[in-house]
Amino acid sequence: MGPETAHTMASGAAQFSQKFTPFLLDSMYQYAHPSLHQEILGKTFANPIGLAAGFDKNARMIPFFRKAGCGFVEVGSVSAKKSKGNPRPRAFRLPEDQALINRMGLNNVGAKAVQPRLKNHAGQIAFPVGVNLAKTHDPRIEGEAAIEDFCQSFRLLAPWADYVALNISCPNTAEGKTFEDPNSLDELLSAIMRERKEMNRRVPILVKVSPPHAERFILDSFFDEILLVSLAHKVNGFIATNTASDRRNLVTSKERIEKIGKGGLSGQPIADRATGLVRYLYKKTNGKVPIIGVGGIASAEQAYERIKAGASLIQVYTGLVYQGPGLIRDIKEGLVRLLEEEGHSSIKKVVGSEAD
Ligand SMILES: Cc1cc2nc3c(=O)[nH]c(=O)nc-3n(C[C@H](O)[C@H](O)[C@H](O)COP(=O)(O)O)c2cc1C
Repeated sequence: MGPETAHTMASGAAQFSQKFTPFLLDSMYQYAHPSLHQEILGKTFANPIGLAAGFDKNARMIPFFRKAGCGFVEVGSVSAKKSKGNPRPRAFRLPEDQALINRMGLNNVGAKAVQPRLKNHAGQIAFPVGVNLAKTHDPRIEGEAAIEDFCQSFRLLAPWADYVALNISCPNTAEGKTFEDPNSLDELLSAIMRERKEMNRRVPILVKVSPPHAERFILDSFFDEILLVSLAHKVNGFIATNTASDRRNLVTSKERIEKIGKGGLSGQPIADRATGLVRYLYKKTNGKVPIIGVGGIASAEQAYERIKAGASLIQVYTGLVYQGPGLIRDIKEGLVRLLEEEGHSSIKKVVGSEAD
């Protein structure tokens, strides 16, 4: 079965079970522990494990992932106008690498259709729901229109979200470029911050960035500019990282990779880079700006390492595809064990403890 068909079937099963067998889900996946509890971005997180953007693009599976034991969910990416995305096939498994390549192309039903679903789940205690926004997948929408496109989604969805993530780093945009250019980002953040002010609700705004291109990304002044622009606009946090456009660290054959073609790489091959970037961001911001760590997390040990590198929260996507929803419970149990082994009473105490 192709990965997209598998995803559609799994989504159907998740929606069925959240509606008809919620108690069964509780008994299968529920696990809570006070040491995993945190207050971040003015919200209560029962545990630090969240669903990464792209899995529940249209906000249909929020109750399922709550029952599966996530501490939070990020729906989207949602764009102002609905989009079918790129032609299929557009998602590929690389099992030898425990990785995926995708060029979905921001397929989603659009902000208007997502709004009532998000509204329905707004304000749940200790279960924040973030919304990830991207520009509509249409190369004719550019310049000021592109900014307005983001603003439209923001106006519709931000009132019902616990945080808003700006997806400025999708490698699969229709125009083949991202908003990770300091000038474009500056314009986007000016407009979004203005919208937030007018909305009169201080919804946290986070910026989702790409994994570093260069091996020695610490010398990457381009990334520093993105960071400076974001901090100048007082963004409330970072999400590190999105998928990678390069093909480093793979054991899958070159022929297969060439046959697959373009797309964003996720899973194990990006794990080290994503950890490195979290560490870098934590140090550069003196640990004052919350970071959501994502990219190749597939075990409690990896989650713990990412948290020690500086992530207050983490997210999973590719790990879930390979291991199923039991991964969430496994990570939580493993984190509690690791904390106990090291004599810590709370996850908060270890955030950034190995950032140096
Ligand atoms: C099939 C697929 C679709 C994705 N769609 C989105 C998306 O719409 N918006 C977004 O910000 N990230 C998207 N992502 C990126 C993930 O949220 C995550 O940042 C990335 O996959 C790295 O995490 P992982 O290694 O745990 O998968 C997608 C990833 C995959 C594999």
